Amino acid sequence: MRAIINTEYGPPEVVKLMEVDKPLPKDNEVLVKVHATTVNRTDCGFRSAEYFISRFFSGLIRPKNKTLGNEFAGEIETVGKDVTSFKVGDKVFGYNDTKFGAHAEYVTMAEDEAITTMPGNLTYEEAAPITEGGHYALCDIRAAKIKAGQKILINGATGAIGSAAVQLAKYFGAEVTAVCDTKNVDLVKSLGADVVIDYTKEDFTKMSQTFDVVFDAVGKSSFGQCKPILIKSGIYMSTELGKNCENIFLALTTPLFGGKKVLFPIPTINKQDVVFLKELVENNKYKPVIDRRYPLEQIVEAYKFVETGNKTGNVVITLT
Ligand SMILES: NC(=O)c1ccc[n+]([C@@H]2O[C@H](COP(=O)([O-])OP(=O)(O)OC[C@H]3O[C@@H](n4cnc5c(N)ncnc54)[C@H](OP(=O)(O)O)[C@@H]3O)[C@@H](O)[C@H]2O)c1
Repeated sequence: MRAIINTEYGPPEVVKLMEVDKPLPKDNEVLVKVHATTVNRTDCGFRSAEYFISRFFSGLIRPKNKTLGNEFAGEIETVGKDVTSFKVGDKVFGYNDTKFGAHAEYVTMAEDEAITTMPGNLTYEEAAPITEGGHYALCDIRAAKIKAGQKILINGATGAIGSAAVQLAKYFGAEVTAVCDTKNVDLVKSLGADVVIDYTKEDFTKMSQTFDVVFDAVGKSSFGQCKPILIKSGIYMSTELGKNCENIFLALTTPLFGGKKVLFPIPTINKQDVVFLKELVENNKYKPVIDRRYPLEQIVEAYKFVETGNKTGNVVITLT
């Protein structure tokens, strides 16, 4: 099968399109013919190993998993003999950031992992980007215990995480103020934001209004900058570690003192989360935003675009 291989860490050019053996599903696994996948910031982080800490998971010297790709949508081609919940021909989507492998024509998944049947109302290309930004946003929103009527500010509302966070925060009943640039104001309103701040015209950290939660989904601010716009018991969350990894330190210390605090939840995903996101999609409460599509052969270009930090939502890779 065709697969994207990287045998070393580095810039986008380290990934190569190659012919490799098709994986064989174990007894508890399904073999999925991948029709669409994504290049996202998680792939970029693991490919570049820019943060050295990621090497403790992905291999100290060189990558353990030679094919990246954590999101996929496709069709089940083979089921292992112990699989009971899927059958050949099922259209499925899911997420795997322990084994990766979706930048290829075929990927295997255990039936109890983060995989489920596709929402009936989406194509493969629309279903592939449901989970990456969606589960990061869900983890943060759950950690902050967002309740109906609470006020949340989401910075970077046009990233994969931010655009999912706006929709999920609305689903959980929050009043959402979203920050994006001029060209995306209408898009972000269409995702459900109650108020949209254009960051090219206004600095959200200088607003007079206060919020229960500030979620910086693009990691451009700090707790110190955002403290004035948090209520007394307000919560600050960011997708980045911050200067000198301060967000980790603050997440360990600020909850001890009461008052304003930082949360930095470790993202997790399981089958229930994927099913939850699928149901939101089916009920028109969540739809991943798609920016560009690239064929598998142009994945290096896709990586380069994702690493501009300016994609709107998700970048999809198509396989024929
Ligand atoms: N290391 C990892 O494994 C990993 C995994 C996932 C995510 N992350 C981090 O999570 C963050 C978000 O990732 P993502 O995929 O959701 O989004 P992304 O690709 O980083 O996109 C960021 C979005 O934020 C907007 N943006 C850029 N600068 C901004 C600013 N100053 N204020 C407000 N918006 C701004 C961009 O829109 P405009 O260009 O229109 O402004 C773009 O739509 C990133 O910081 C990423 O590094 C890291």
